[in-house]
Amino acid sequence: MASFSHLALPITISFLPLICQSIGWPIDPTHGFTQLPFNTSFYHIQKPYNLPETDRYSFFSGIHKLWVYSTDEPLSKNSPTKPRTEIIISGYNYSSGVWQFEGYGYVPCGTSGVCIMQVFGAGGNHATSLMLRVYNGTLYYYREAAIVPNIYDRWFRVNVIHDVDASKIKVFIDGVFMYEALGRGGEFHYFKCGVYAQNDDSSYMESRWKGIKILKKSD
Ligand SMILES: *[C@@H]1O[C@H](CO)[C@@H](O)[C@H](O)[C@H]1NC(C)=O
Ligand SMILES: *[C@@H]1O[C@H](CO)[C@@H](O)[C@H](O)[C@H]1NC(C)=O
Ligand SMILES: *[C@@H]1O[C@H](CO)[C@@H](O)[C@H](O)[C@H]1NC(C)=O
Repeated sequence: MASFSHLALPITISFLPLICQSIGWPIDPTHGFTQLPFNTSFYHIQKPYNLPETDRYSFFSGIHKLWVYSTDEPLSKNSPTKPRTEIIISGYNYSSGVWQFEGYGYVPCGTSGVCIMQVFGAGGNHATSLMLRVYNGTLYYYREAAIVPNIYDRWFRVNVIHDVDASKIKVFIDGVFMYEALGRGGEFHYFKCGVYAQNDDSSYMESRWKGIKILKKSD
């Protein structure tokens, strides 16, 4: 017993920080943030311009369900953009500070080539500062970096923290820090979630969201 503790203790102490960094423990990313009011006054739905909202969006039992087809029209008649059905949280249009989006997302198997969450607003010729996309069952940062595999057919918690002044955006999935992106400038930003077709889009795209919260770091 004496020799066991003599050996085990130094090993535990020296290897634990390494294990924590590489695997990552879930934390509460909302700690230190203040939750802001969120109701229908703070968002609306963007959908193919020629269809009624109920053809592409439903809200039952606290679950927002958004879907779109690759052959659908864009959000406005002369828009060159691909089809989308998105919740646009235009009620919180920010240009400074540290802001956070939290929501539980669900993507059914088969949905691919689609942006499911974005931080709108960027400088230069970019429209967005962050896109979370799904390709073939993996969650990506744009098409650049795979963040989480096997994302289909399960609820996952998404926390996106945008520090405007530091120009950093952090992504947490199920409370685990997964990715940090550099900001891309821009005068103003807001969060969006839903389905926005990208390259190699599947014919049908759907995502569901519940428990959406907008938070701001307390000054
Ligand atoms: C939404 O919340 C705001 C702030 O609490 C409140 O003023 C407003 O009346 C609410 N709107 C609806 C539609 O519930
Ligand atoms: C956000 O604010 C900017 C700057 O005032 C404005 O141009 C833009 O239309 C706003 N966007 C929304 C969705 O309210
Ligand atoms: C997804 O799968 C399709 C079909 O196998 C393939 O063409 C495409 O390159 C894949 N996309 C990514 C981002 O891996």
